[in-house]
Amino acid sequence: MKLTDGFGRNITYLRLSVTDRCNYRCVYCMAEDMTFLPRAQVLSLEESAEICATFVELGVDKIRITGGEPLVRRDIDALFRQVGQLPSLRELTLTTNGSYLAKYASHLHSAGVKRINVSLDTLDPEQFQELTRFGQLQEVLDGIQAARAAGIERIKLNAVILKNRNFSQVLPLVEFALQHDLDISFIEEMPLGQVSEHGRQEEFCASADIRELIQGRYPLLPTATTTAGPSRYWQIPGRDNLIGFISPHSDNFCSSCNRIRVTAEGKLILCLGNEHSLDLKAIMRRYPGERERLKAAIVAAMGNKPEKHHFYEDDAPQIVRFMNSTGG
Ligand code: 5AD
Ligand code: SF4
Repeated sequence: MKLTDGFGRNITYLRLSVTDRCNYRCVYCMAEDMTFLPRAQVLSLEESAEICATFVELGVDKIRITGGEPLVRRDIDALFRQVGQLPSLRELTLTTNGSYLAKYASHLHSAGVKRINVSLDTLDPEQFQELTRFGQLQEVLDGIQAARAAGIERIKLNAVILKNRNFSQVLPLVEFALQHDLDISFIEEMPLGQVSEHGRQEEFCASADIRELIQGRYPLLPTATTTAGPSRYWQIPGRDNLIGFISPHSDNFCSSCNRIRVTAEGKLILCLGNEHSLDLKAIMRRYPGERERLKAAIVAAMGNKPEKHHFYEDDAPQIVRFMNSTGG
């Protein structure tokens, strides 16, 4: 069985958020004082596993577990173990802030996780604290090392660059990636949720500017590599590391979109830049164990996947959802 949307795109990639909570409060992601979802509203781990199994039966072959911070969810290793065993799942991965990797790296590896994304926006300990509000750089550095030691093959850093804050970290981050055999993607900040500390427009840093800065130091060649995600990758001749740019503003990658998201609350989001959703949790709680019914609802929802995202209309942000509840 295959999931195909109204524009002929095959949906093979699920991003599932397992919690809206996080031990950090990155300035571009959350307000300092966040109210999180009441537990009963969040999918149980069993429900999350059921959603994964259902999508895999519908032809999804790549699942990314996200948050919030997925590793703050209690017993999360059990979900990885279970999902990792689904037949015909080609890739199980996660996006993490890295702070609990030291604890979970070997569990993840034995569940079959081969590559992970770790968010890291700066190598300056003080700036790290400012940007994450509650974080310590060292725990992330230790986490990356633990992931390496556990045998996770490919680690990619994700860096959100804010023009007036961490633009000067672009080259140090590239050097760090080269030294430690990591890939790195630079992300343009997206207008998700209301943040208090900065105006989105004044901090906006275009991928082209970041690339230009890197090209002042290293020659960069575009590659044809894709990882079924929105990054466009470049390489330094003679090096394996991928240097990616995720440009939701300046690039339109919608035409090749193959992914859908499920929020921590169990809402199927067809596009990050649009408000449409389908409440999978409501279906599962009303008709427990009826996987065929869940499948039929998902198949029907594909017709609502929009052609493109609309982050801004007449310059006003359109989306009120926070990234932490949708999954990064
Ligand atoms: N814009 C862009 N990226 C964001 N992330 C969180 N909020 C935003 C935002 N508003 C990123 C984090 C992390 C991933 C989960 O999503 O940096 O890499
Ligand atoms: Fe947590 Fe990631 Fe959001 Fe930072 S960006 S607050 S680490 S969920």
